Amino acid sequence: MPVDIVVGGQAGDEGKGKIGAYLASRNDYDYAIRVGGPNAGHTVFYDGKIYTLKTMPGGFVNKRTKLVLGAGTYIIPDWLEKEIQITGTDDRLIIDPHAVIVEPRHTAAERADARMMGKIGSVGTGLGAAVRDRVDRKKLRFAKDEPRLKKYVKDVPELLNKALAKGSNMILEGTQGMKLSNLHGEYPFVTSRDTTASTFMGEAGLGPKYAGEVYAVFKPYVTRVGPGFVSKEVKDKKALNKYHTAGREVGSVSGRLRRVGEFEMDVARMAVRINSATRLAITHIDLLGGADISRGTKSFTGEAKKFLRTLEILCRTYPYPKVALISYGPGLDDVLEL
Ligand code: IMP
Ligand code: MG
Repeated sequence: MPVDIVVGGQAGDEGKGKIGAYLASRNDYDYAIRVGGPNAGHTVFYDGKIYTLKTMPGGFVNKRTKLVLGAGTYIIPDWLEKEIQITGTDDRLIIDPHAVIVEPRHTAAERADARMMGKIGSVGTGLGAAVRDRVDRKKLRFAKDEPRLKKYVKDVPELLNKALAKGSNMILEGTQGMKLSNLHGEYPFVTSRDTTASTFMGEAGLGPKYAGEVYAVFKPYVTRVGPGFVSKEVKDKKALNKYHTAGREVGSVSGRLRRVGEFEMDVARMAVRINSATRLAITHIDLLGGADISRGTKSFTGEAKKFLRTLEILCRTYPYPKVALISYGPGLDDVLEL
């Protein structure tokens, strides 16, 4: 199907970047599209290197895939330039003219806002302040106004729709996750945008007709970098340390140690419904006991087996997604495909 979508089923940091990169390396997508702001970070382990990215789609790993930033993208040009350089993607990046530039004044305003930084736990990149200016119809700079980005600017809706008409396939990588959606999440402990599949399509300039598979990404536990609800939060220092070291559960943008709690089935079911997820992608299974991957899921025992069983409840939630991918390590190819 034309546009596969990757969404977060929890509180962000489920491993969407890795899943996006894996899918792009396997499926020859013509375009990898990303929307959202620089508050989000994703990490891709590829070719012996670790790429910590904020704006570049994980799909950069496929050299023939063109990379697109939609109108719902918020860009810090200095950061994007660096990402273009380290990923070597100068010749295949396309930016919508209406992508918003997050200016230093936005970042400064957010960081000076004690409520945002304290109670809400904002990452402090300025996305919220830029979104607010856009909602208020204040003067903004767009990608089309930024001399450094001009060469990448193209009419994205026209480009993508023409490509769809010719039978192109695409992957659309969203940001954050269910609990952080401004629309459906745990308000006020949410980000400044909706973070579900339909919104990502709209932010890219794509209508709903072209949605293909929707991959909802989950970890067997929930992490959260900011305040807000976490079910059965792990408080034991030694237990937490395992997540922070072996699980690398440290904010890739914020640098904060992530809070950890149990898998929340009610949130997961909501994520399946609201995103109309057709595929489940599980990451970090290696953090559970019994995750021996040598004979596929057949060799899973103990905690890992028990967790995979609980996923059956999710698979019985309409539209009845299937467990499609199980990631058992940070590397791009550390994935079981079912
Ligand atoms: P803001 O979007 O920076 O205002 O942050 C609002 C809340 O969402 C805070 O709890 C942040 O830690 C959280 N948040 C924002 N972006 C991400 C993300 O990409 N991953 C995980 N949490 C995020
Ligand atoms: Mg992240």
